[in-house]
Amino acid sequence: MEPTAAAPVVQTTVSDHIALVKISNPPVNALSTAVRQGLQQAFTELNQNADVHAIVVTGSGANFIAGADIREFGLPPQAPALPDVCNQIEASDKLVIAAIHGAALGGGLEIALSAHYRVAVETAKIGLPEVNLGLLPGAGGTQRAPRLAGAAAALDLMLSGRHAGAKEALRLGLIDHIATSDDIAAEGIAYARSLLADGAPIRRTGEQTAALDDRAAQQAAIDAARADVAKKKGLFSPAKIVDCVQAALDQPFAEGLATERELFTQCLNSPQRAGLVHVFFAEREVTKSPETQSAKPRPFQKVGVIGGGTMGAGIAVSLLDAGLSVTMIERDDAALALGQSRVAKVYDGAIAKGRLSEEGKAAILARFHGSTSYDALADADIVIEAVFEDMGVKKAVFAELDRVCKPGAVLATNTSYLDINEVANSVSRPQDVVGLHFFSPANIMKLLEIVVPAKVSADVVATGFALAKKLKKVPVRAGVCDGFIGNRILAVYRQAADYMMEDGASPFEIDAMVRAFGYPMGPYEMSDLAGGDIGWATRKRRAATRDPKARYVHIADKLCERGWFGQKTGQGWYVYEAGTRGGKPNPAVDPIIAEERAKAGVTPRTFTREELERRYVAAMVNEGAKVVAEGIALRPLDVDVTLVYGYGFPRYKGGPMKYADLVGLPQILADIEAFAKEDPLFWQPAPLLVKLVQEGKNFDSLNKA
Ligand code: 3HC
Ligand code: NAI
Repeated sequence: MEPTAAAPVVQTTVSDHIALVKISNPPVNALSTAVRQGLQQAFTELNQNADVHAIVVTGSGANFIAGADIREFGLPPQAPALPDVCNQIEASDKLVIAAIHGAALGGGLEIALSAHYRVAVETAKIGLPEVNLGLLPGAGGTQRAPRLAGAAAALDLMLSGRHAGAKEALRLGLIDHIATSDDIAAEGIAYARSLLADGAPIRRTGEQTAALDDRAAQQAAIDAARADVAKKKGLFSPAKIVDCVQAALDQPFAEGLATERELFTQCLNSPQRAGLVHVFFAEREVTKSPETQSAKPRPFQKVGVIGGGTMGAGIAVSLLDAGLSVTMIERDDAALALGQSRVAKVYDGAIAKGRLSEEGKAAILARFHGSTSYDALADADIVIEAVFEDMGVKKAVFAELDRVCKPGAVLATNTSYLDINEVANSVSRPQDVVGLHFFSPANIMKLLEIVVPAKVSADVVATGFALAKKLKKVPVRAGVCDGFIGNRILAVYRQAADYMMEDGASPFEIDAMVRAFGYPMGPYEMSDLAGGDIGWATRKRRAATRDPKARYVHIADKLCERGWFGQKTGQGWYVYEAGTRGGKPNPAVDPIIAEERAKAGVTPRTFTREELERRYVAAMVNEGAKVVAEGIALRPLDVDVTLVYGYGFPRYKGGPMKYADLVGLPQILADIEAFAKEDPLFWQPAPLLVKLVQEGKNFDSLNKA
């Protein structure tokens, strides 16, 4: 077998009338310009080669093809376009077989759907995840997938972006055969040989109609999907996906492809695509920190959790779900029993939903131990403290850990705001102390801030990242300051919201604006959910160090003084009727606001939704820029990932720093300077923002530095 193709990323070998076209573009065989050119050239040559009877397309390494090269989106297009490559493959008058292992996603699956037959190993991941990037399958996928699997299945795959396994893909008609061994090239060749032996016809997907024959059923599936999409406001591409499938039903294949092209281009040019692609790369980039490059994580299997409250119980569940062994320490037997029951309740909920069996629960809980004695942590590899947010209590806990834990054990705190350097310096082994800041509910929320105090050793930080990976969380490295990345920025935009409230906006208007922006809930709804007492305690703690000249809005404190902490007390900013989760605006809040405005000498004014939004976002971006400049966040993208994964910032807007880039930094700075005329202390432009505007740069330029 002699290599014949010129392009090294696509290698062609011909043996015994069967050509093997192998894509080798690490790490995931994305369809870069070179790969598209290589495929085009390979098919042009092979189609003219009379010796070739069948062509097998496959990928080298761990995947078939993970899709279009996402890095090329937004750059000037280079020929050949992927749809043209797909059409060329489909038009081939040699039998074309896609031999799939690993990921056949997006454009990768579209290549496979353009082949005449498909074979896959059982573990293959088959899907059209473009929706996650603000796109739709733009190389014929919206036309070919319904022609093979019908509208309902194609819509499900394209709107969810999920991966199907080979068995499901076979059932749906997306593949024809499951390989029996993992040698996918050999399997593809063997399958090609059997098809040739059987005289299998060339079967072009674009000419298939059987799956669409029952038009009424197809239309019903499209209508149902359209209704579903309409309910989920915000995203641009899902409705376009439905339009494409409608075109697959109504239009001849070539016209359907043209419709798809037009709608794909609209998606490609949308800011949502830019935001979502940014987050795709950012969530991978955050896993790389100086410490993960320089040090190896310490091994861990046994983890201690101190405190069985809201966070301790959630953290314990997260650890147990990852297969780790957990020992929970509480103050006394009653508190321990409560902590253990919180953990058990999560699994009972899973059983009630049919997601877990009693035996499954028992097997998980066999790895869960409890004690009121720290001595039970003698062999723990990692200990995570989640006791009351009080420096004295934390230091007492760490003194015990210092006493009982084995040398090399990682000692972590889940503190939200406290100075972790102070905690670290209180023990004899500050090099082992790190912050692991989980978010509530800790078994669900994906973000894990890994807070890096001054004396911690690199392998402890690397262990934090390894733990995040084990728990399937998104780690973000943060420096020590009051609130780290997320809570520090939250405090500032929350303050901007309070100022707008005192100046005339109602909290319900602000929540509505924030929801319309794309958050699942507004800041006042969030406060009611988390418990108003949490923020109250923080404000009280900070009172002593607050700048006496800084504006302070007392409204939230007034609610807390009445014991209105939100959902858990039946009322806060909203009133919650027993048994309901959603609240109605609390009418008793209005007079409190009016009274505070009067006390502050404020004449209330009205704000448009846009005005509210600009202040809210400007406060967030300005503080984000300060956090980056101080090195608390490594790059702007770390702020983006923190706010998207921990605070509900809409992913499709890319995070606050990316969003600021898309709006334009001069605009954001001009807003801040205008607001500063009212309150120069609060609205001090971040020097980094000023510098970037002066240099004509954006935040993204720092991500690439
Ligand atoms: N283009 C460019 N780079 C890609 C890529 C792609 N399609 N897919 C993955 N990568 C890069 C990642 O950024 C990462 O780079 P890094 O090492 O520099 O950080 C590297 O490949 C490895 O990726 P992962 O860390 O994600 O590796 P995993 O093994 O965990 O996952 C995967 C592999 C399941 C293939 C996952 O990478 C993935 O889901 N990729 C995206 C798939 C996708 O969205 N495809 C559709 C693209 S859009 C399209 O095809 C449009 C078409 O319809 C016209
Ligand atoms: P919580 O009040 O629900 O739970 C604290 C638990 O710690 C209680 O069960 C208490 O009995 C136990 N405890 C107190 N002192 C102890 C000691 N010396 N030894 C053993 N157990 C002890 O508090 P929550 O909300 O779980 O918070 C815990 C920590 O997590 C705090 O530092 C908080 O700032 C932080 N955090 C809280 C978040 C939240 O949303 N609630 C989010 C992220 C971090």
